[in-house]
Amino acid sequence: MGIDYRLFALNPDVIASNNPGFSVGDYVNGPFGWQSHAISDGTMVRKLDPALAPISTAVGILGMPGITAYVGLNTHGKPKSGETLVVSAATGAVGSLVGQLGKAQGLRVVGVAGGEEKCRYAVEELGFDACLDHHAAADAGALRKQLAAACPDGVDIYYESVGGKTLEAVVPLMNVFGRIPVCGMISWYSATQADGPDMLPMVWRSILVNRLSIRGFIITDHYDQFPAFVKEVSGLIKTDKVSYRETISEGLASAPEAFINLLKGGNFGKQLVSISPDPTRK
Ligand SMILES: NC(=O)c1ccc[n+]([C@@H]2O[C@H](COP(=O)([O-])OP(=O)(O)OC[C@H]3O[C@@H](n4cnc5c(N)ncnc54)[C@H](OP(=O)(O)O)[C@@H]3O)[C@@H](O)[C@H]2O)c1
Repeated sequence: MGIDYRLFALNPDVIASNNPGFSVGDYVNGPFGWQSHAISDGTMVRKLDPALAPISTAVGILGMPGITAYVGLNTHGKPKSGETLVVSAATGAVGSLVGQLGKAQGLRVVGVAGGEEKCRYAVEELGFDACLDHHAAADAGALRKQLAAACPDGVDIYYESVGGKTLEAVVPLMNVFGRIPVCGMISWYSATQADGPDMLPMVWRSILVNRLSIRGFIITDHYDQFPAFVKEVSGLIKTDKVSYRETISEGLASAPEAFINLLKGGNFGKQLVSISPDPTRK
């Protein structure tokens, strides 16, 4: 069960194996596509330990989105206790873990999310210091004003997943030697033509004047960190130091709708498509 929206992962159990690394009944995660059955030579297939957490987490908090949060924040964000972190798509699969890892490291964490309910969840359940609703802000200027009030010492790290209005609001608030791990730009994924203002001069100026480090990354370059990440974050889940949410659509036929829903912000936490009951879920 469980397909992530980049058509990248499915968690079935093994029903036949000629590969000594895998036995019948093992739960595995790999790039099998959106289908009910798959044949694999074992390349990029990961055996899962259901004792750590329900196997759906292998495409969420303990999988690709989770390690994206972990690497983006730690390797590229270079957090230091006492700094201020702004997280976009704050309640999503990646953002919710970024913020919780930031809190665990002593940062002030301010989220930006779509809607009051998501913002309440970020503060009350994920432990963010504040969260701002980007739908409620009329424009980037209005959002920036609210962010400035929520970040009285400026912004040291902006975990960037969305582009658009949020990026435009945050960049002028960046502190000298600030860092921006560029994880995604979801507000522009479906754009067919330029929309919004030309931000390039404003962004370029801030990079120069504030000596910012902007670092794009693709998580598959960092899969050597998987064992350390799973060890650390599964420990945090077990001890209730981090929590996560999933939005589960039922049946393979619901996958296209689930995908479109995610691009509109309709998901709450990791968007999954379940194609069979999950025996590891209590
Ligand atoms: N670099 C990498 O290797 C890598 C790996 C994994 C994921 N990513 C990127 O990380 C980001 C988050 O991925 P995820 O899987 O955790 O997704 P997610 O946050 O669970 O879901 C996407 C969220 O993006 C927000 N969003 C959608 N349209 C938006 C818009 N126009 N403006 C502002 N926010 C918008 C919505 O949240 P709100 O309702 O709160 O606005 C939506 O729930 C994506 O950009 C993804 O491409 C990158």
